[in-house]
Amino acid sequence: MRFAERMGRLTTAASFDMLARGRALEAQGRSVIHLGIGEPDFDTPAFIRRAADAAVAAGWTHYGPPAGLPELRRLIAETWRARRGIACEAANVVVTPGAKPVLFFTMLATLEAGDEVLIPSPAFPTYGSVAEFLGARVVPVPLVAERGFDLDLGALASRITSRSRMLVLNSPHNPTGGVLPPATLAGIAELARRHDLIVLSDEIYAGMVFEGESPSIATLPGMAERTVVVDGFSKTYAMTGWRLGFGIMPEPLAKHMTALVNNSNSCTATFVQMAGEAALTGPQDDVQAMLAEFRARREVVVDGLNTIPGVTCARPAGAFYAFPRLDYGGLSSVQLADQLLEQAGVVTIPGTGFGAGGEFHLRLSYANSRENLREGLRRMAEHLAPLAKR
Ligand SMILES: Cc1ncc(COP(=O)(O)O)c(C=O)c1O
Repeated sequence: MRFAERMGRLTTAASFDMLARGRALEAQGRSVIHLGIGEPDFDTPAFIRRAADAAVAAGWTHYGPPAGLPELRRLIAETWRARRGIACEAANVVVTPGAKPVLFFTMLATLEAGDEVLIPSPAFPTYGSVAEFLGARVVPVPLVAERGFDLDLGALASRITSRSRMLVLNSPHNPTGGVLPPATLAGIAELARRHDLIVLSDEIYAGMVFEGESPSIATLPGMAERTVVVDGFSKTYAMTGWRLGFGIMPEPLAKHMTALVNNSNSCTATFVQMAGEAALTGPQDDVQAMLAEFRARREVVVDGLNTIPGVTCARPAGAFYAFPRLDYGGLSSVQLADQLLEQAGVVTIPGTGFGAGGEFHLRLSYANSRENLREGLRRMAEHLAPLAKR
């Protein structure tokens, strides 16, 4: 079979590769602590699972409208107006199987070959992969580790050209846990308006903020008409496997996105959307309990990492990742992640899996029990401490 040239430009996430390698070691009988994959280890709250059961029993097993069930779209608009202050109506909301299709479809609907897409580095790998797949050019914008992985406005401004078409934001941020402060968002908005940029704002971790707030850039003057807010149920409601996400976007783009859904997956599973309605209207206690546990784990991980000689870790303001820097005489993030996996039995993700800006860092997901986190840190310290002495 011959494949299209563009397939060579699509990459797959390092986290899935590392997970497979960890599982392969486990199959050989090795004990492995998984600090790699970015999904909550909690079960989906019981009332949401029951809502899905009830929806299946009631016959919600047919095709639905491509843009999503009208009631869910209305509820999302109402909830995001109230929770995040985003001015939107049901017509601005398109429901998709997970948040990822919103990233894919937005780029598909807006980018031409040769367009430049400004993407923070490091970043969630899908952004760059899809942009390059479509023939666009990725322009990395370095994040400033010393300032909680803030985006440097000067660095951003200096990279904008007449071909710049889109800026991707992700706050709270994967892989660093950084949250963009309001002053940075205001500066970005100013540049986006001046240079007529589309802003793809991935806010999938907006429900997981431990310090201050993570406002949406879509709430700033003149931004709603050029911003696509990407969000969903995967992280906040521990619903990764259900595949339920959505975008909030200007109506003309919503029409194109609906056409893309129509031509690809037709619609999002209707009983899953019914479970989503329950998630938004039901008690939010489980979400609060998960958040409290993530907060406690963050302390375990960050404090534990900072006791290891050669490791420095900032306290992430959001999401469930730590992104420590490891200084061991120039050992690369890939070498360190390989050693930790093969020799210490700990799965981490090399920082360069998120772009060149991630070198000398590892991403640790703290979506694991405190007990496993402590054991993972113990193994890391045991392996890394002797390296620091050399
Ligand atoms: C930054 C970011 N955006 C989007 C996604 C994808 O979310 P979903 O599973 O809902 O497609 C992830 C998942 O890891 C993520 O980390």
